[in-house]
Amino acid sequence: MSPEKSNEPVRPTYLEVDLSRLKKNIESIRARVGGAKVMPMVKANAYGHGVEGVAPFLEPLADMLGVALVEEGAQLRRLGIKKPILVTGGTLLEQLPLYFEHDLTLTASSLDLLLAADHLAESTRQRLTVHLLIDTGMERVGVHHYAAEQFILRAASLKHVNVEGIYTHLANAELVSVEGLPSRVVTARRQLERFQEVLALYEKHSLPAPPLRHICNSGGIMNLPEGYLDMVRPGILTYGIYPGRDIPKTLDLQPIAVWRSRVLYSKIAQPGSAVSYGSLWQVEGSPRRIVTVPCGYADGYLRVMSNRARVLVNGKSYPQVGRVCMDLFMADLGDDDAAVGDEVVLLGEGIAPEELAAWQGTNEYEVMTNISARVPRVFINGVE
Ligand SMILES: Cc1ncc(COP(=O)(O)O)c(C=O)c1O
Repeated sequence: MSPEKSNEPVRPTYLEVDLSRLKKNIESIRARVGGAKVMPMVKANAYGHGVEGVAPFLEPLADMLGVALVEEGAQLRRLGIKKPILVTGGTLLEQLPLYFEHDLTLTASSLDLLLAADHLAESTRQRLTVHLLIDTGMERVGVHHYAAEQFILRAASLKHVNVEGIYTHLANAELVSVEGLPSRVVTARRQLERFQEVLALYEKHSLPAPPLRHICNSGGIMNLPEGYLDMVRPGILTYGIYPGRDIPKTLDLQPIAVWRSRVLYSKIAQPGSAVSYGSLWQVEGSPRRIVTVPCGYADGYLRVMSNRARVLVNGKSYPQVGRVCMDLFMADLGDDDAAVGDEVVLLGEGIAPEELAAWQGTNEYEVMTNISARVPRVFINGVE
C-alpha cells in the first residue's frame, strides 16, 4: 500500500517500510549463518516497523517467528500466521492456556512452568511444544546453567510436552572487543561454553538433545559464528540495523524504514523571536524561515531531541529548533525557502537510526520501538 494508492486518509507523518529490503536483509542473514534455521524476532510491533505488514511478509522467508509476549503471539495468529511462533519472554502460570488456544511454542524458563505445562497438556489432552531456556549469564529468566541437569532430565521424561528446543540468551554479544572489561562482564564466548556444557549433559545421560539448539541474537550472528548451532534469532539485523556501533558492517543490510512528514506551516520569523515552549531557541541576526512539522513526542520524536536533531527538508539537512512539542516541531531553514506540503524526512535517506539514537541518548532499538502507534506504517515494495 502506498499513501497515494490507498483510499484511507494517511497522516502526512508516517513510517514507510520497504519490504523488498526486509527480504534482502533476511537473505543476507541466511547466507551468513549457513544451514542454521532463521527465526526473526517480530516482538514490539516488529521493532516498531509494524507487525501487521512485516510478519505476513516475513512468514514465507522464515523458519519460525519469535515474539516476547504471549499476547504478541496471539496477535500473529489473528494476522493469519501459520508457522511456529516461539514466545521468548516470561510467562505466568495463568497465561498457559493461551499457548494451547493460539498454538504457540512455550519457553519453559523454570521447572514449575514446565511441569504445569505438562500437567495442563495432559488434562486437556493437547500437545504443547516447548523450548527450554537456560540462563548462562543474563540473570533474567531461565534455569541457571549450573543447575540445569535435573531440569533437562525432568523435561526429557515428560510425556505431554514436546521438547523441541533448548536455548540461552547472550548478554554482550554486540561487544567486538572484550579487552579490559570488568570481570563481571560475561562474554558471548563464555556463555556459549556454559551452554555447551549443558548440552553435553544429554550425551552424558545418553539422551538425544532437542533438535533446535540456539543462542545467537543479532550480536551473536555478527560476532559468534561458532554459536549458530541449529537456529539463530535475529532481531534488529532483520530491520537492517546493526546491534552495536563498533561492529564491522559486513552484512549486506539496509534499514527498511523511512520516517516521512510534510511541511505543515512555513513562515519567516524575525530576529529576537523565540521558538516553541520555554523559548529555548531565538532567531539571531537576520530573519529566518522556520517550518513546522506535524510530528512530536507523542509520535516518538522525543522531546529530549529538542535543539539536537536534524531533518531533511526537500532533501537538504536542517536543524530542528526549539522544544519538540507533543504533536509538532520546528526546523530552521535559514535563508532557504520551503512551502507547505514540502517533503520532510526524520529518519532514513541519509539520517541513520544511530543518529537519532545519539540525539536521544539511547540505542537504535529504543528509537525504533518508541515510534508510536499514532504514526501509520505504510508498506511498500511487498510484491515483486
Ligand atoms: C530471547 C531473544 N532472542 C533474540 C532477540 C533478538 O535480539 P537482537 O535484536 O539483538 O537480535 C531478543 C531481543 O531482545 C531476545 O529477547
